[in-house]
Amino acid sequence: MTEPIELKNYDSVAKLLHWSIVLLLAVQYAVAWTMPEIHRDMRAEGLISLHLSIGTVILLIMLLRLAWRLFHPIPLATEGFPVWQVRGAYIAHLSLYGLLIAMPALGWANANARGWDVTLFGVFGLPRLVEAHSSIGHLAGDIHTVLAYAALGIIGLHIAGALYHHFRLGDGTLARMLPR
Ligand code: HEM
Ligand code: HEM
Repeated sequence: MTEPIELKNYDSVAKLLHWSIVLLLAVQYAVAWTMPEIHRDMRAEGLISLHLSIGTVILLIMLLRLAWRLFHPIPLATEGFPVWQVRGAYIAHLSLYGLLIAMPALGWANANARGWDVTLFGVFGLPRLVEAHSSIGHLAGDIHTVLAYAALGIIGLHIAGALYHHFRLGDGTLARMLPR
């Protein structure tokens, strides 16, 4: 039997950012699946416009989160865990950071290729990444959708890992990310 391990908790900013992203992503996927299918020469209105704005908020929070993380490093719990689990958690976290920055940026490029300006709820506009009708921008849309589903898969594994630690192993991994 290994001794219970003292785990360092995530700081309150890291927790706030983590759970805000969870909430925003839940809304964002729900919007993505209910918004009308996008055809040529459509306008960005209603749920489509909401998708662009929430996606922009997610992108901005993820950039803030990455910066916070770089300046406030917190080690993964390694002691007593098999190497594959530690590596798996590390790779999942790293790819979630990467995907949740790259994927919204690709959606943004696709919106521009469709001739749409991306704004944050109409308050301020983001610069154009590509010209209207850009073929790279259209390709970006396809990759955006593929990455959205890849992220969903990794999120599923991540949640399964968190619940396994909590309910099966009974260790403090989940607690270090919970509000208290
Ligand atoms: C993390 C944030 C985001 C998630 C999870 C997400 C998710 C998705 C998903 C699942 C689809 C496919 C919907 C379907 O099955 O028809 C989609 C399509 C799309 N999203 Fe996002 N999205 C995000 C951010 C953004 C952002 C920031 C923008 C633009 C500013 C954007 C623009 C688009 C566009 C234009 C499409 C249509 C792509 C096409 O059909 O070619 N998304 N998004
Ligand atoms: C949209 C869904 C989610 C995303 C994108 C996400 C993303 C992340 C990322 C990137 C980290 C690494 C944080 C860092 O080191 O900076 C993390 C940590 C963590 N997440 Fe999530 N997460 C999600 C949902 C959840 C859920 C639903 C739970 C609980 C059931 C959870 C539990 C945890 C825990 C416990 C940690 C700390 C892991 C450790 O110390 O090894 N996450 N999450």
